[in-house]
Formats: sequence, structure tokens, C-alpha cells
Amino acid sequence: MGELMGSDKKGKKHKSKKCRRSGGRDDDACQVTRDRVRAHFLDGNTGPWAKNLAAEDMKNARPAADGATPQSAEAAAADERPASGESSRRGPDYSVPSTIDIVADPVLYALSTRRSISKVDPETPNDSDLLELIRSVSSVADHKGLRPWRFLILRGDDRIRLGAALDEAAGVHRKPGEINGKPLRAELLLALIASPTKHDKVPEWEQHATAAGAGHLLELALWQAGWGVMWRSGTLTNSEPVRSLHRLGENELLMGWFYIGAVPERYRQRLAASTRPLPKPEQFLDTL
Ligand SMILES: Cc1cc2nc3c(=O)[nH]c(=O)nc-3n(C[C@H](O)[C@H](O)[C@H](O)COP(=O)(O)O)c2cc1C
Repeated sequence: MGELMGSDKKGKKHKSKKCRRSGGRDDDACQVTRDRVRAHFLDGNTGPWAKNLAAEDMKNARPAADGATPQSAEAAAADERPASGESSRRGPDYSVPSTIDIVADPVLYALSTRRSISKVDPETPNDSDLLELIRSVSSVADHKGLRPWRFLILRGDDRIRLGAALDEAAGVHRKPGEINGKPLRAELLLALIASPTKHDKVPEWEQHATAAGAGHLLELALWQAGWGVMWRSGTLTNSEPVRSLHRLGENELLMGWFYIGAVPERYRQRLAASTRPLPKPEQFLDTL
């Protein structure tokens, strides 16, 4: 296995076998590598590029006399893997520190701080804004590029018609003049429709996954553009009256509605002050 060169606080060179945490602190060599990667990262290079550039730096900085072959973190990790056939039930290896900075990177920061806003103010993006947001969302991963998703805009009285369709599905009869106010919680609703086609290589569930992905990207795009949104659906979403209001094809599935509006000022202030902890990521990651 290759060795990393580092220096201690007095500048004395030393070798370390691998980036391991000892006593809760990374060793100096790792710190040097990480600082270099971070510098490249802050320079605008994405994670893998930053790593490659830092590896180049290390190669150039190390005198040939040390005799070690420079090695990337990935290559070092590969050396550690058991030969095929050996049991690999060891769990993920977190000993090599990450160079990814979810605070410095604007996209990762937006991803990790996104929140649903349940009560939005009346101002909404206009239809041209929506088109731009959809443009950004259309990069969603899509097997064979089948584009199995679409959105419908509901504004004004369309929301009252949605309330009536939900009432009909629920068997609710209201007094004359009364309406179902739930769809009125935002001035703008976008309905997401999964629209799969028959394909011998792409099962329907994959196409639903793409449609759901478009929904999640839309939430993120709205958040990043400064708008509030909450994705809502329910047991009546694909009931006959609701499906027929949205003119769904037989193969189509309504994935719910995005309630969109401005983020209320009081909420903005709360957001700035609060730090909602993210769930521990280890629970989402394992090896075979
Ligand atoms: C497909 C889908 C449907 C949802 N439907 C509802 C809903 O009807 N009512 C609700 O309160 N939350 C619903 N949610 C959850 C909210 O959109 C939101 O994710 C949740 O309140 C957690 O807030 P957060 O997004 O800030 O973590 C739904 C989420 C998804 C993905």
C-alpha cells in the first residue's frame, strides 16, 4: 500500500500508512491532503476533480527519494478490499476523510437545507418562471429518455374545481355556497403526472421513479429560486373524479400537487435562526 507524506507542526517530514482517525483527530498527512483538496474545491473544482488535483500536488511535492508510488485515496481503498471470494461483510469504510464540503458547495448546501413550507404567501412564480424551473428539472435521470412525467398548472378557480372533485371522491356534500378550501392553501398548485409508456427495457416502476425524481428536483429548484413549496397528496389523489378533472390517460398516475408561493417573512426569520438537524446519514448507507 502506498504512503502519504505529511509534516508535523515543527515541519518535520514523516510518513503515515493511511488516513485513520486516532484519538478523534486525523493525522497530519490526511490534513495536508484534505486542505489541498479543499483549496481546489473552493477554487471551483468539483469533488473528484479537486481530489485529482490534490493528488497531483502531492505527487509533485513528494521527493522521488521517498520511494513511494503516489496513490489516490480510491486506489488506497482498493488495496484494502478483500480479494474476491473473501467475505466482504465489513460495512462502509469511513477511514478516508471526505473532501466534499456541503456548506461550501451551493448545490449541496441547498440540498441539505431544503425545507417544505406548509403555509405560503400569495405571490407566485409566473408561468415563464415555471418554464425555467422545469427546464432545470428536465435533467432528471431517465432510462431511455422516455420523459414519463408532466406537470399541470392550477390557479384561480381550477383549485375550486379540485376541491369539488375531492369532495365528490370522499362523498362529502356541502351546503350551497360552501367549498372545500384545502386546495386554496396556495395560489398556485402544480400537479405532477407520471406518464409511463410501454417499453420492453424500462419497466413502469422505473418511469414512476423518474417522475418522482422530477418532483423532488422541482422542490429543490423552487427552494433555490427563493419560493416556498409543499408536496401534498392523499388517498383520493387517484380517485375517478380527481383523475377525470386532470384528464389523465389510463396508464397515468397523479403523484400529487406542489403548493407553491412566497416564503412568509416570519418563516424566513425562523429559518435563518433554526438549525434542523439532518438525520444521521449512516442509516442510509451500507455494503452488501
Ligand atoms: C409524494 C408525497 C406526498 C406527500 N403528501 C403530503 C400530504 O398530503 N400532507 C402532508 O402534510 N405532507 C405530505 N408530504 C410530505 C411533505 O411534502 C414534506 O416532505 C414533509 O412535511 C416533511 O417536510 P420537509 O420536506 O421539510 O422535510 C408528501 C411528500 C411526498 C413526497
